[in-house]
Amino acid sequence: MGSGAGEWGWAERRRVLFPFLLSLFCPALSEQIRYRIPEEMSKGSVVGNLAKDLGLSVHELPTRKLRVSSEKPYFAVSSESGELLVSSRLDREQICGKKPVCALEFEAVAENPLNFYHVNVEIEDVNDHTPKFTQTAFELQISESAQPGTRFILDVAEDADIGANSLQNYKLSPSPSFSLITKEKQDGSKYPELVLEKPLDREQQSYHRLVLNAVDGGDPTLSGTTELRIQITDANDNPPVFNQNVYRVTLRENVPPGTPVLQVSATDQDEGVNSEITYSFHRPGQVFDLNSSTGEITTLRTLDFEETKKYSIVVEGRDGGGLVAQCTVEIDIQDENDNSPEVTVHALLEMIPENAVPETLIALIKIHDQDSGENGEVNCRLEGVVPFQIISSSKNSYKLVTDGDLDREQTPEYNVTITATDRGKPPLSSRTGITLHIADVNDNTPVFHQASYMVHVAENNPPGASIAQVSASDPDLGPNGHISYSILASDLEPGALSSYVSVSAQSGVVFAQRAFDHEQLRAFELTLQARDQGSPPLSANVSLRVLVDDRNDNAPRVLYPALGPDGSALFDTVPRAAQPGYLVTKVVAVDADSGHNAWLSYHVLQASEPGLFSLGLRTGEVRTARTLGERDATRQRLLVAVRDGGQPSLSATATLHLVFADSLQEALPDLTDRREPSDPQTELQFYLVLALALISMLFLLAVILAIALRLRRSSSPAPWNCFQPGFCSKSGPVVPPNYSEGTLPYSYNLCVAQTGKTEFNFLKCNEQLNSGQEIVCGDSSGTLFPLCSSSEPTSHPETLTPVSFVSVFSFLPSTQFSIFT
Ligand SMILES: *[C@@H]1O[C@H](CO)[C@@H](O)[C@H](O)[C@H]1NC(C)=O
Ligand SMILES: *[C@@H]1O[C@H](CO)[C@@H](O)[C@H](O)[C@H]1NC(C)=O
Ligand SMILES: *[C@@H]1O[C@H](CO)[C@@H](O)[C@H](O)[C@H]1NC(C)=O
Repeated sequence: MGSGAGEWGWAERRRVLFPFLLSLFCPALSEQIRYRIPEEMSKGSVVGNLAKDLGLSVHELPTRKLRVSSEKPYFAVSSESGELLVSSRLDREQICGKKPVCALEFEAVAENPLNFYHVNVEIEDVNDHTPKFTQTAFELQISESAQPGTRFILDVAEDADIGANSLQNYKLSPSPSFSLITKEKQDGSKYPELVLEKPLDREQQSYHRLVLNAVDGGDPTLSGTTELRIQITDANDNPPVFNQNVYRVTLRENVPPGTPVLQVSATDQDEGVNSEITYSFHRPGQVFDLNSSTGEITTLRTLDFEETKKYSIVVEGRDGGGLVAQCTVEIDIQDENDNSPEVTVHALLEMIPENAVPETLIALIKIHDQDSGENGEVNCRLEGVVPFQIISSSKNSYKLVTDGDLDREQTPEYNVTITATDRGKPPLSSRTGITLHIADVNDNTPVFHQASYMVHVAENNPPGASIAQVSASDPDLGPNGHISYSILASDLEPGALSSYVSVSAQSGVVFAQRAFDHEQLRAFELTLQARDQGSPPLSANVSLRVLVDDRNDNAPRVLYPALGPDGSALFDTVPRAAQPGYLVTKVVAVDADSGHNAWLSYHVLQASEPGLFSLGLRTGEVRTARTLGERDATRQRLLVAVRDGGQPSLSATATLHLVFADSLQEALPDLTDRREPSDPQTELQFYLVLALALISMLFLLAVILAIALRLRRSSSPAPWNCFQPGFCSKSGPVVPPNYSEGTLPYSYNLCVAQTGKTEFNFLKCNEQLNSGQEIVCGDSSGTLFPLCSSSEPTSHPETLTPVSFVSVFSFLPSTQFSIFT
């Protein structure tokens, strides 16, 4: 079995060779003729020259009729050449299958003579079949955890050829991970085994595609291929891996619960459950929540920078196979301006003295803001306009000091509001109110409610009566404002003060210590002091003028007529030829009281010859009313009553002895007569006559009144005049009754004042009296009071202050006046 030339070249040579060999052995074995041919020779191909090999010549052939006897007509004999020819397809695999030797045996028959010859044709295998796998591709699954050296038996390929032409070997396409071993079974058939050379990594290459070659031993070799598809199955050989080892995030404080913070993410190169990662906190807390499937971290509650500034959390990622990875999450909390400043006041002064100098330290103010940065930088100020200010002393501490004058009397306390504002955006502020109390200092002197006081006290007051009250006030507090009163000085005689007045230290009420006498003391002045009880005390002085008012406690005193030095009554002479209106004499009386109480009027109580003399009501002048008649007695007696104007009025009486005579000698006998004791009989007669005269006068008055009334009804009322107390007149100056108008350029009034001793003051009344102004008189004490008023149609005696006015006289000739002085 050589090699090299083409298929048919090889068969041709053997055809030549075999008959030669057979002919060598035929004499011994003439019956068996053997041929050997390759399979699949084409129809008509010559297997061998059978006739020749049988020893038959070509001439004999038509007679011998050489032919093949066989069940299967594979061969035929050529009748011309005697050659054995292939008459149908010879497929060794079909005819013999896997038999190692395939021979076709049949008989060759020759006639004339009939003879049989055994023919054996051995059919040699030709490599006409390729190895074949049953499938064009195989699927194979190998776990990535398979160890190197692991073998996997693969499917075999089939090759119908036998021997060397059958499948000889398997080959694998080059692969770093796999190799192939061809193994032989006991029956000699070969099968491939896949060997794992290196560890597999699904994550690197999950799929391998290899080509398996099955090769036979023919010449040329034939091969069949199949694809080996190797799927690497996953093993949990990869732990999860976080994207970052450390996550950092900044989060504002006060975000609402549930705010996403960040999302951690881990990957696992494995697949399936091996790559399903669940996240969890290494140490679960109360602050953050972690979604186990998404890795999202959210807040559970509000965060407070002031509580925790930074969180560091360990997060675990666990895959389905139980492998764990960790990462750290660092959360920085960002400060927000969420804390108002807190103000604490450490009071140093409970009470601030009102005389505190500016910049007196009152309190320390401490500011605390839990925020940081600008959010914790605080400014402090005072609200409103107050006499205080805040001075920064050190970081977050301030001093509250005075800044201006304090006055407790004006503002006893201040409600000061301290506002602290931080510099956050928006700023937060807090207000703290403190009450500052101002302490009293004795800085106010007592002040009397009046600049000076003046009181009127009626004389003859009961001793111990309160006559006045002074009062002062002091706005200071406590003893500083507690006032006591005292009398400092007076214009009374030294040492006499305490017997006159006293003052209540508490109330300022001034008490009279004795009954005052207007006739002795008209007025006096006290200096009172109000003094507080501060230290040092402050005081104020005030003057109190006490005017002692008059009361009608003195009866008029008759100065003239007076009794002689020997107790005898004096008399006045009247010339016998005296005309009516002749001024005979004048009753002079004084009253120690003043004003109305000293305003005297004169009345005739009794006259021996009524109607002979007239008595001036105010003047006390006695004038003749008619000429002396023949029947009139030369000696006349007048009983005169002097009354003052007080209520009730007091009075005195005086008796006038009047003698009609032309000379003093003529009068004397009368006087001696008069010295005789008066007969009680004549006295009785006198009173009877007087009573009669009074009755007749009353009658006469009634008659005159009736006439006057009648006259008044018929004519218009005449200008009205009166000279009764109050001496007012409707028009014109007040004049004495006998004053004739126009004789003097001015009207004068005479004021007689008594201050211990009798004295006269002439006062000039207002010149323009005619125009209806009032007359004003002054007394020695300087008090002015109205003397007369002409503007009022009726008299008002009570409008006149009854002060120290004694008496008003009309003008008298100075010669007449000198009689009495
Ligand atoms: C995690 O997040 C997903 C998607 O948002 C949600 O459907 C799921 O309910 C969450 N799981 C938990 C435990 O909150
Ligand atoms: C200060 O505040 C107190 C308490 O609120 C109040 O009684 C007082 O009248 C206030 N004083 C002033 C001066 O406002
Ligand atoms: C009050 O009067 C007293 C005595 O005359 C005097 O010493 C004192 O200074 C006066 N006080 C005032 C405030 O005028």
